[in-house]
Amino acid sequence: MNSRIRNLKAYPMDRLVRAKEEIKRKGLKLFDFGTGDPKEPTDERIRKALVEAVPRVSQYPTVKGRKELREAIAKWLKGRFGVSLNPETEIIPTAGSKEAIFHFPLVFIDTDSEKRKVIFGTPAYPVYERGTLFAGGEPVSVELKYEDRFLLRLDRLPKSLLEETAIVWINYPHNPTGAVAPLSYLEEVYGICRENGIILCSDECYTEIYFETPPHSILEVGKEGAVAFHSLSKRSGMTGYRSGFVAGDEKVVSEYLKYRSSFGVASQEFVQKAAEVAWSDEKHVEERRRIFKEKKEIFEEFFKEIGLEHLPVEATFYFWVKLPSGISSEAYALHLLKYGIVISPGEFFGKGGEGFFRIALVPTVEECKEAVKVWKKAHEEFMEKAG
Ligand SMILES: Cc1ncc(COP(=O)(O)O)c(C=O)c1O
Repeated sequence: MNSRIRNLKAYPMDRLVRAKEEIKRKGLKLFDFGTGDPKEPTDERIRKALVEAVPRVSQYPTVKGRKELREAIAKWLKGRFGVSLNPETEIIPTAGSKEAIFHFPLVFIDTDSEKRKVIFGTPAYPVYERGTLFAGGEPVSVELKYEDRFLLRLDRLPKSLLEETAIVWINYPHNPTGAVAPLSYLEEVYGICRENGIILCSDECYTEIYFETPPHSILEVGKEGAVAFHSLSKRSGMTGYRSGFVAGDEKVVSEYLKYRSSFGVASQEFVQKAAEVAWSDEKHVEERRRIFKEKKEIFEEFFKEIGLEHLPVEATFYFWVKLPSGISSEAYALHLLKYGIVISPGEFFGKGGEGFFRIALVPTVEECKEAVKVWKKAHEEFMEKAG
């Protein structure tokens, strides 16, 4: 077995899958707030576009992807963030953003170089670390703090560390905390990366799930040495389609494109055609935001009622909830499981996650209303036992 990964724990969500199987076996009703995979149906026009695009003979797709899709993405980036990207040279469609994030360091880490560190904040989506390890890079996780609104503060890191760093990952709106980055923060991080010859990777798969102010993209600050990773998974409810894109610095994008054929990860043409429809429409995204807002309000009220503090949810469909001190989030999660409620203990997302749990607003609005009633009872029982 590859020695770099021998010590890694199972992918956290795999552990949740096992817990859910156990609940089902016991015949309990499952309220699954674990994995961030909402159940609202994909817009009918997108589904239709996919079905109609399935050809009689399906041949290998190109790694560069369909011109029409790259053009639709460029148009979306212009409309949403006011940035102009060349669809020929600055955009690559990907099979979701996970594979693109995972594969990125394989191309941009030189294992023989001193400059092979990869910085990311934690708690975090686990793929920044895993991709780095598989690529032979050195992961450097920096603990994110509630008092910093979970912003990764590169300005506080030693210059010597930045000089040895090849890639920085940022992810705002942030999974698991829902934190959002102001433009001034993105400008600062961009500046530090430029000064230190670091590729700045901005995972932006939640920019479209917001409730008041649309979040920013790093591409609004600049594209020199920067790349943004986007996805239709959350924006358009297309997790199962596997469709996203990478966009930014022409040199980085072209190097990445050159090597991606080795991984064989081009999206199917029929998925690309459905993606063209998805990026060209905002109505279905507005409707999704409306539904998540409804669920968010149910939980804002609920957590207030039971007295649990959380970061204000301005974007994403996550709540990052703080437990009273001395209570382990794993113990709390295990207790809720007995009632069929699945949440993710903060530890799943790495250092800095202790004492928190994450919920993903995945069940339907009706299920959310039902879940809070069950949860209230379970919570009171837990607190009574905890004294
Ligand atoms: C922060 C973050 N980035 C990337 C992804 C991957 O999304 P996908 O591969 O579906 O585009 C996820 C999925 O949950 C995520 O939370």
